[in-house]
Amino acid sequence: MTAPREAPDGHELGSAEWTDLSAADRDHLRRAIRLGREGWGSVHPNPMVGCVLVRNDTVVAEGIHRSFGGPHAEADALAQAGGEAKGATAYVSLEPCRHQGKTPSCALALHAAGIARVVYWAPDPGQEEGGGGRLLEKNGVRVQGPHGSEEEWRGENPFFFHRPQGNRPYVAVKLAVSLDGGIAPAGGRRQWLTGPEAQVEVHRLRAGFDAILVGAGTWRADDPKLTVREWDPPAVPPLRVFIDPRGDMGATAAAFQGDGGPVVLAVGEPAVDPTAARLGSRAEIVGLPVGPGGLDMACLLDVLGRRGVRTLLCEGGGRLVATLLASGLADRLYLFQAPLLLGPRRVPAFPASDTPREENGEGTAAPGGSFSRWRRVRPPETFGSDILITLDRSL
Ligand SMILES: NC(=O)c1ccc[n+]([C@@H]2O[C@H](COP(=O)([O-])OP(=O)(O)OC[C@H]3O[C@@H](n4cnc5c(N)ncnc54)[C@H](OP(=O)(O)O)[C@@H]3O)[C@@H](O)[C@H]2O)c1
Repeated sequence: MTAPREAPDGHELGSAEWTDLSAADRDHLRRAIRLGREGWGSVHPNPMVGCVLVRNDTVVAEGIHRSFGGPHAEADALAQAGGEAKGATAYVSLEPCRHQGKTPSCALALHAAGIARVVYWAPDPGQEEGGGGRLLEKNGVRVQGPHGSEEEWRGENPFFFHRPQGNRPYVAVKLAVSLDGGIAPAGGRRQWLTGPEAQVEVHRLRAGFDAILVGAGTWRADDPKLTVREWDPPAVPPLRVFIDPRGDMGATAAAFQGDGGPVVLAVGEPAVDPTAARLGSRAEIVGLPVGPGGLDMACLLDVLGRRGVRTLLCEGGGRLVATLLASGLADRLYLFQAPLLLGPRRVPAFPASDTPREENGEGTAAPGGSFSRWRRVRPPETFGSDILITLDRSL
């Protein structure tokens, strides 16, 4: 097991727009954002939040919201600071919560501890939780926030700021892509494109999602387990979802070996009964309408959403990803650029029929695909020889 490391940094946040803050304020606020990232995989569906308490230019405590239902970052920091909190400034990556829920109101706790000033980054959009800033002001605390933009807040805490249409979970797509735009060599044979550092990062990402999804071409080629192995496993392992239009997956598939948690097979409606009879309790069978492009992915997302899946990571392959992108069903892209060429007849990352085609400067929808613009969430991150680019669909 690899020890949890500090989540990747390199944030571009807090540039010129935070004009009401000093350079030292900006550093403390960025630190609070960075601390919050340590909650990845254990706080969802809560947001990731960090807090830094500073008195007389000295950091007296750093707090993190570490687990769902556990103390909020402000409470964690106040517990460490004790009497040192009096007169301090609290830098928090999210507006302190107003109401008493699983834990007491952070706004009131900061006030009770004698905090003199609160600087926060993102507003809390919650009906009950939001408004902690105003509550603090009413109690005589100087408050500065929010800072940044909705795109930045969403980029940092994508699940928390996801506003689902219907039951659709938040959908991220992860692909490892060669320099020549492939995801596998000719014939689609199994081949690691990225190095061990990137693979650990994939397991870290997995740990933060409710479900992992792969297409039929991928399980046929790779026979993946889709478990979290190279990172601290989350309390509830991600649901593993396989696209299997005709119900072909055999009982000897790697996903059915060991105790990796539940498996869902998404099959065409006619394949439901025979697949269920063949696999028994090994898998939950979800029957989907079949159209010219394959199984109905919007329907699958709706079923998963109703089953309690709020966030889903699709790990390929190219055709499934192309469907999600072309249907506007993906919110985030994790693209690992691997330093290799796969050569002719490689399996394409974005199959040609779904490649977006920009017909004019505005981006006109192309047949078989749709043009969309994506926004880089943070500077590219390096994992060994590979580069990770994280992009969100533009608002
Ligand atoms: N580098 C990477 O990050 C990465 C990640 C994953 C996979 N891979 C590689 O990619 C290859 C597989 O990719 P792939 O593009 O051939 O296959 P894929 O995307 O994994 O699966 C596509 C298949 O899923 C089924 N399907 C059913 N409904 C669908 C829908 N609405 N949209 C899309 N697919 C639907 C179809 O199966 P039927 O044809 O049976 O009807 C379709 O052919 C393998 O070689 C694997 O090793 C690489």
